[in-house]
Amino acid sequence: MTLIWKNFIENGWCFLDNDIENCRWIEAAKANIRNKFRQKEYRDSDFRSGASWFAGINFLDNGIGGDVDGISFSSVLWSQISGNFGVKIKYWDAAQVSICWQGYPSKDPSESEKSFKYRLKKYSSHVDGLIPIGSSKRRFAKEFHAFILGIPITNNRVDSAPLMVWEGSHKIFRNMFRKAFAGLSENEVSDLDVTEIYQECRRKVFTTCPVKKVFSHNNQPYILDRHLLHGMGSWSAPIDGSLLQPRNNLFPINPMSGRIVIYFRPAYKNALDWITQN
Ligand SMILES: [Fe+2]
Repeated sequence: MTLIWKNFIENGWCFLDNDIENCRWIEAAKANIRNKFRQKEYRDSDFRSGASWFAGINFLDNGIGGDVDGISFSSVLWSQISGNFGVKIKYWDAAQVSICWQGYPSKDPSESEKSFKYRLKKYSSHVDGLIPIGSSKRRFAKEFHAFILGIPITNNRVDSAPLMVWEGSHKIFRNMFRKAFAGLSENEVSDLDVTEIYQECRRKVFTTCPVKKVFSHNNQPYILDRHLLHGMGSWSAPIDGSLLQPRNNLFPINPMSGRIVIYFRPAYKNALDWITQN
């Protein structure tokens, strides 16, 4: 096992090897994003935090193998992923295109003070797939991802809304999930309210796990364990006049002026692998 995968198992995330060949895929993704913004093919509801963040859920027009406009991932990236997860993946989902601009986070009028404070202090941290349901936001496991793959494509710096991860938190959550879901079918897992134990785990993580900023130069991709607690840091860089924010409809929105990371979350073929796999 290589060092990067040892880091993945121990810390819950690692950088993958970078390679020049993947630039072709990145350029194809950029072209797709630019074109969709030009055509206004976005949902207004994806602009959040006072329009300082475009959530871009399932926004990228990629194929079921992650390809964009006929361009596949580089062979280096592909072999690293398939070597570890290959036959267990059902298909590559339409990727999230997360774009942040200067000033993130602004407070949405609809956002509660409590939620905004959590965004500022704890970066709205969460474990993907545990969906808050209804007005009381009870948590249920509804999506069974094998991993989270991040591919940074523009303006990734330490002070431009970096990804925040709590190293080692995947072990605490995995342990909790195995106990809570032991012996249950897929449907029973989805129907079990895990709000309290999820919150208890999160408190434990905040007091025992170090938090790290993840960003990369040269578009180096990274991979997160499916159970890693993570969030998004503030844009703390000084205001740069060349980077415009989408404040209103008078100006076309330039997605490339923001910090963009593309996230894939392929689902397991066997949903219960989400609980049982190491
Ligand atoms: Fe997430």
